[in-house]
Amino acid sequence: MSHPDALIWDDRYSNNIRWQNLRSPRNLVISYQHLIPRSGLVLDAACGSTPTGLHLARQGWQVIALDVSNAALRIAQSEVQKEALPISFALMDLTNPWLPSNRFDVVLNFYYLSRPLLSTYRKSIRRGGLLFFETFLRDDSFSSEVDGNLHHYLEPHELKTSFADWNIIHYEETQRISRSTERRNRSRRIAQLVARKPD
Ligand SMILES: C[S@@+](CC[C@H](N)C(=O)[O-])C[C@H]1O[C@@H](n2cnc3c(N)ncnc32)[C@H](O)[C@@H]1O
Repeated sequence: MSHPDALIWDDRYSNNIRWQNLRSPRNLVISYQHLIPRSGLVLDAACGSTPTGLHLARQGWQVIALDVSNAALRIAQSEVQKEALPISFALMDLTNPWLPSNRFDVVLNFYYLSRPLLSTYRKSIRRGGLLFFETFLRDDSFSSEVDGNLHHYLEPHELKTSFADWNIIHYEETQRISRSTERRNRSRRIAQLVARKPD
């Protein structure tokens, strides 16, 4: 039996051209890529078609990419077969996963929110390692009919507060124009964080 999130996301990645097209790597990572240690192990969580993980693997980083959608991982894997990149994939529910402690030099979490992961990342990232996190923020125009489940949205300042004892390299709550059909041209609030775990 499939996980309910897998049913939703497999359908998107199998039937919707918007999700099938490979995206550009996330700008937040491009902007701070110079901070990532050359020999680092990168975890791309809820990676989807893995645009940012593939970008880092192409530059030589070792990447582990996890997602609940097999259809998403197949899109990414077809890229890897063309190029033989240092990236491995696993099908995994990240709602409340076990991840090894002090293992990853970098964690990427883009546009997926499961709150138990915040404390999991605190343990799984090595001392001196980096967390890149970006996803939607609840705002005053939130409507569950258009925006879905409120639990998938950060509260204002929540992300920064969760890593207040880390070295915050970048934190911003800003606007982003949505590309999705339902929300076409609607501006949505997002939070971005780049934080380093203290040595
Ligand atoms: C908006 S996409 C973001 C993909 C990617 N991080 C990026 O930056 O483009 C959200 C991703 O979360 C994944 N996802 C949803 N529920 C999940 C779960 N329970 N466990 C793991 N991944 C999940 C979806 O399959 C999808 O690939």
